[in-house]
Amino acid sequence: MAKANVDFSAIDREKLPKHVAIIMDGNGRWAKKRMMPRSFGHRAGMERVKDIVRMSSDIGISALTLYAFSTENWKRPKEEVGVLMSLLIEYLRRELGELLKEGVRFRFVGMRDRLPAEVQSILDEAMESTKDNTGMDLCVLVNYGSRAEIVEAARLAAEEYAAGKISEVNAEEFEKHLMTAGLPDPDFVIRTSGEQRISNLLLYQIAYAELYFTDVAWPDFDEKEYLAALQQFAGRNRRFGDIK
Ligand code: IPE
Ligand code: IPE
Ligand code: MG
Repeated sequence: MAKANVDFSAIDREKLPKHVAIIMDGNGRWAKKRMMPRSFGHRAGMERVKDIVRMSSDIGISALTLYAFSTENWKRPKEEVGVLMSLLIEYLRRELGELLKEGVRFRFVGMRDRLPAEVQSILDEAMESTKDNTGMDLCVLVNYGSRAEIVEAARLAAEEYAAGKISEVNAEEFEKHLMTAGLPDPDFVIRTSGEQRISNLLLYQIAYAELYFTDVAWPDFDEKEYLAALQQFAGRNRRFGDIK
């Protein structure tokens, strides 16, 4: 992959987040401002994904989570949902080679059920072909909702308890059933485009994450903006309840 077009050599690698989760918001408003259809904004957003994935991997982030489609996003007009699904397919078809080259391990997180068959199969292909990679984990949330994930994890743990497979339902047993099992919790959450909310993203996993909200719309969130966010994270004092 080409190097990211921003100089990030000054940043202290020790102070980088290990797992960045991004709520990529504002594609629609970005397009509207340009008097273009929302699909134009989604396409511009997809271009941004490529840059941010590459920079994350180059800079040494160990996991990057991108919120691509929430369970609530099914409420949107059918055409827009179709555009989002097609762009996801297009992105993976075009970028899979690069992801492989960069050593990225792809992981789909979400509920498969409602996803079009073609989306399911490309997600499977991306996971299968990158599963032995040892570089950055790229976790893409599609048809994902955190509350449903938590309820399901609790249900599965309770089921195991009832069947006598586990002696108690504790955090460890519960976490095994989260869709993100095996990944470290995100320590940094970025949301673009001015909204200051979480929108059902990884509610359990981000309990102690640092939050970063920017007015910049996702299609304008370039490497420079990303670096500024990472620099802000590097300067934060994380106390975890302690007094350090
Ligand atoms: C983010 O942009 C993409 C998805 C949520 C899938 P939006 O489509 O939400 O853009 P706005 O928030 O309407 O501007
Ligand atoms: C959050 O964006 C979900 C994704 C980025 C996929 P939305 O645009 O759907 O969030 P709300 O509806 O404004 O909270
Ligand atoms: Mg939005």
